[in-house]
Amino acid sequence: MAWSCRAVLAKPMGLILTALLFFPAALSAPTPPLISLPTEDDGLSYGFHDHKCPALLNNVSTAVRNARRSDPGITAGLLRLTFNDCFPQGCDASILLTGPNSEQDILPQNAGLQQGALDLIESIRAKVHRACGPTVSCADITNLATREAVLQSGLPRYEVPLGRRDSIAPARRQDVEALPRPDFDVHQLVQSFRSRGLDETDLVALSGAHTIGEAGCGSFENRFSSEEINTNGFVKRLLDNCTVNADRRQDLDVTTPMKFDNKYFTNLYRGIGVLSSDMALLLDVNTRSKVKDFAGDQEWFFRQFSNSMSKLAHRQGAKGNNAEIRNHCFERNNGGPFVGMGFKASA
Ligand code: HEM
Ligand SMILES: *[C@@H]1O[C@H](CO)[C@@H](O)[C@H](O)[C@H]1NC(C)=O
Ligand SMILES: *[C@@H]1O[C@H](CO)[C@@H](O)[C@H](O)[C@H]1NC(C)=O
Repeated sequence: MAWSCRAVLAKPMGLILTALLFFPAALSAPTPPLISLPTEDDGLSYGFHDHKCPALLNNVSTAVRNARRSDPGITAGLLRLTFNDCFPQGCDASILLTGPNSEQDILPQNAGLQQGALDLIESIRAKVHRACGPTVSCADITNLATREAVLQSGLPRYEVPLGRRDSIAPARRQDVEALPRPDFDVHQLVQSFRSRGLDETDLVALSGAHTIGEAGCGSFENRFSSEEINTNGFVKRLLDNCTVNADRRQDLDVTTPMKFDNKYFTNLYRGIGVLSSDMALLLDVNTRSKVKDFAGDQEWFFRQFSNSMSKLAHRQGAKGNNAEIRNHCFERNNGGPFVGMGFKASA
């Protein structure tokens, strides 16, 4: 057995034959391959920190593993954080800045960000800077921690371009307000993603992040004032639960809330998606056909999700004089006092 394995594996042709023997489905339904996008000509690369910070990937994966063990919901928090950071003006950790004009205060787009996810990024930064000095940005750490949480959820590894720097200011309000809202119809969703170089496939695949995580009642209250409330028993149950407790956190995937799987898509077919923007994906021929693909083939969804996350991670953020390696993820360097940090930067 051992020799025949080695003999077969030695030749790529043998590999293909073996794959066809054991996975005949690979012939009929090829899942798309993982992509490797070029890193832009702005000094980014996949191996950017390999020499100066060899501890990086290991420090990130250990921290994410520990965090997920004590708080399984943090994977959802990290995913949302990365989307809401990268979408407005590129991945630059601008969303982590606290204080005046903080993106975190812009509602409803940034409602319900998990403080635990924000804190995890800063605590990883502290560990990494202790091991390597201040060479890795909060933007890189945010993308890597999210990639790690996705990986630990059983999805394929996607590539994240590294060497990014952190913005010195929050994103402009109009760019944060370009984030899709949960009351958008499908055309608004498509337009919104298009405005940031993301297509319908990215829209549907990335919406699949709602296979985990939670929403506040305010994020789907638009459904309660529509005609739906009289005709849709599921929406009525959502309303009843929110009436009992207006502060409840509603699972976005009511079937398997804790599991990263493709049940989000089968839920849409059953009419039990929570946000209007989730159900809306059935109301356009293109997005509907993607929902069907992903509902029918979890591996296909996983591959496409990873590819679309990689595309998101490639969005260019602040650079040049508008960027730096932050010494604390919540404050720009020399940007005034850290509240509650036990010391003051020179103001
Ligand atoms: C397609 C347009 C999208 C809309 C309209 C949307 C909207 C929302 C809203 C309103 C919430 C609930 C916030 C709250 O009430 O606390 C939410 C949660 C979430 N979103 Fe999205 N989202 C979209 C796309 C995405 C994408 C692309 C990702 C990541 C790839 C993502 C990941 C998440 C996750 C993981 C949660 C749960 C967060 C938690 O449990 O802390 N969403 N989203
Ligand atoms: C980070 O990596 C360094 C070098 O491998 C290691 O000494 C340190 O213990 C790691 N820290 C954490 C918290 O994983
Ligand atoms: C409403 O609350 C009940 C009781 O906690 C729960 O069993 C049910 O799943 C909730 N409904 C929805 C749609 O989440």
